[in-house]
Amino acid sequence: MHVFLTGAAGYIGGAVAVRLLRDGHRVSGLTRRADTVAALAALGIDPVVGDLDATDLLADCARAADAVVHTAEANHPTAARALLDALAGSGKAYVHTSGSGIVADHAAGAYCNPRIHDENSVPDVHASMQVRDGIDRAVLAEAARGVRSIVIRPSLIYGDSPGLHRDSFQVPVLIAQARDSGVPRHVGAGLNVWSHVHIDDTADLYALALDHARAGSLFYAEHGEAAMVDTVERIGRMLGLDTPPQPWPLDVATAYWGPRTPVALGSNSRVRGRRARAELGWAPRGPSLADALATGTYAQRWRPA
Ligand SMILES: NC(=O)c1ccc[n+]([C@@H]2O[C@H](COP(=O)([O-])OP(=O)(O)OC[C@H]3O[C@@H](n4cnc5c(N)ncnc54)[C@H](OP(=O)(O)O)[C@@H]3O)[C@@H](O)[C@H]2O)c1
Repeated sequence: MHVFLTGAAGYIGGAVAVRLLRDGHRVSGLTRRADTVAALAALGIDPVVGDLDATDLLADCARAADAVVHTAEANHPTAARALLDALAGSGKAYVHTSGSGIVADHAAGAYCNPRIHDENSVPDVHASMQVRDGIDRAVLAEAARGVRSIVIRPSLIYGDSPGLHRDSFQVPVLIAQARDSGVPRHVGAGLNVWSHVHIDDTADLYALALDHARAGSLFYAEHGEAAMVDTVERIGRMLGLDTPPQPWPLDVATAYWGPRTPVALGSNSRVRGRRARAELGWAPRGPSLADALATGTYAQRWRPA
């Protein structure tokens, strides 16, 4: 199958592309950066240079492909619309990347929220996730217009991507802050819990969804969960730091880690990927986040010599 994939130079997109190539698919991959073209080609991806705002280009690439996987940006309505319009009536698959941030709360690290979401939940969507939620709804509705439209909401993804962008956001920025300052920190008390999933298992889910998911399907991707304070404690141990994890007020943490902090590091985002397991036979294998920090890829890369 010929797949047009956006975000080919990114963390998720690179992993999905490598997985699809391994399955024998052909992948054309969108990037904005001409300087990544040679490296993408070396991975076996046919590079397409362009921006998500280039809607005619997106439509042409979508029509030329047998399926589309959109990983570049979960909050870009015009790109999603251009891809979907191009596929309308074709019966082709469109796999859209969203995220479990949709169910995030405003905990600022202060508590563990007992509410756990699955594909049947109707979450109170976080204010900063309203655009993303609207796009997800629009994507799923395209099943009625002859698109095999699928939404994947990964939780916190960890592990090394085999693509050009090795690292995700959440765990690596916690590690970098702790290493650079010598003090491991979390937002507030760090009692907030995020579900998580390994990048290889995430890529497996995309491949399964592309092959088998029904039109109009939503999937959460998760394989375990952890309170931020526990993850940060593991990070401190991995780095050999003597100082125990320290709380950071949300405003100070946001000034350091940026505007994604309240959702990405301060909220609860607890989900269960029941549908992927039940309908696609998705069987995530890890390694677990705890193992990645204790002995796995993070430990091998970040532990002081
Ligand atoms: N990583 C996670 O844990 C996670 C979990 C759930 C959801 N998500 C969501 O999934 C999406 C991708 O995440 P990621 O971790 O793969 O991010 P990433 O590593 O930054 O990759 C995104 C890629 O998309 C491309 N891109 C961004 N804006 C673009 C634009 N306007 N036009 C063309 N290309 C554009 C960039 O490629 P170029 O710079 O090469 O153009 C970038 O390499 C994001 O929306 C993120 O919120 C991520």
